[in-house]
Amino acid sequence: MKNIIGSTAGLEEGGKGLRFDVLNSDGEKIPAFVIHFDYQYFAYLNRCGHIAVQLDYMPGEFFSDDGRSLICATHGAEYAPDSGACLGGPCFGVGLEPLSIVIHEGEIVLEQSGYTVA
Ligand code: FES
Repeated sequence: MKNIIGSTAGLEEGGKGLRFDVLNSDGEKIPAFVIHFDYQYFAYLNRCGHIAVQLDYMPGEFFSDDGRSLICATHGAEYAPDSGACLGGPCFGVGLEPLSIVIHEGEIVLEQSGYTVA
């Protein structure tokens, strides 16, 4: 089965992210997102390293004002867009969980990683 998340069309560099859901091996639905940064695409579970809440203050709004980090709307933890590493704030070294994706003919595809697209 092909795990298609969506299209790269409309995913602007440093712009709004694409929200989607994955299922883990227990069938639990978990929110996730893809962003476009530095000419690449990166996907993460939408779950802060501080408390397990979603990051975006408005649906799809993940980037800080300067576009150099992803920021949690709840207490301001900041993450590196290209690795999910905690850069500062109350994530205390706990990064975002990355999801492995590939781009195939303009489609963003989730690679086998213990998750499937819901
Ligand atoms: S819940 Fe994200 S910084 Fe606290």
